Amino acid sequence: MIYYNDQYPKYFDQRYKGIPYLLLDVPKIVPDDNFKELWNEKKVSIVRQRPDERYPYKNAEEAEENFKQTGKVNEYTTANWDGFIGLSSESADDRWTRSLVDGPTVLPNFFQQLNDYLPIFKLTQVLFWSNNIDIGVHRDLNDQYSWPSSIRIMIEDENPEPTFFLKPFDENLPANSLSTAIPSNIRLDPTVKFVDTTNSLSNTFIYNNKQWGHGAIKNPGYKKILCSIGVNYDFHKLQVLLNRSIEKYGNNI
Ligand SMILES: [Fe+2]
Repeated sequence: MIYYNDQYPKYFDQRYKGIPYLLLDVPKIVPDDNFKELWNEKKVSIVRQRPDERYPYKNAEEAEENFKQTGKVNEYTTANWDGFIGLSSESADDRWTRSLVDGPTVLPNFFQQLNDYLPIFKLTQVLFWSNNIDIGVHRDLNDQYSWPSSIRIMIEDENPEPTFFLKPFDENLPANSLSTAIPSNIRLDPTVKFVDTTNSLSNTFIYNNKQWGHGAIKNPGYKKILCSIGVNYDFHKLQVLLNRSIEKYGNNI
């Protein structure tokens, strides 16, 4: 399958290589007033619906057998996240529980901001997710490029310090290489970059999903909701925004 974003200008590989993440120079993107109500009503525990190349166990029984042998979480029965889907398309990820709302209708202001501020032709997926447990360092299966390509918006974050981080990833490893647990000294690791949106005018960031892996610490008692955006990029607009964002907020290398 050919992904739309695979048609990116090849000079992006050099121009933006190695950048872990950028705060995007767009106005703060805020959800509609009814978001909290919607969240409470529509969020579900997100568990696995089907296997994929890096989690090949076909059902809960096989996954449980593997869990007993290796300690690897049974993703059919243990929810890494709570959340709901605000927009989905045919190419969207169908590996997980789906609680779908018609985002552009029920969160019109939020979707208007996405369409106005993001450098895109089209939204392909909008997810609202809150992790319940530590999410080990991994790369997402889609959109693995040498430039920052994966957009996240911090919807709310009660944590006293940042919890979402990037860590250098051996890009020669296969795309489906396994997630790893979070080392206990992660905050002392000088190679790790935590994404801090608290004192920024922007709550939107974009990260590299090839040379960098990402993960999230779960701080018990503190809630965080991230919005994960899948898009078809307008590469001219993207380039202008990346350059402007680097100038304003730095490249975090
Ligand atoms: Fe991820």
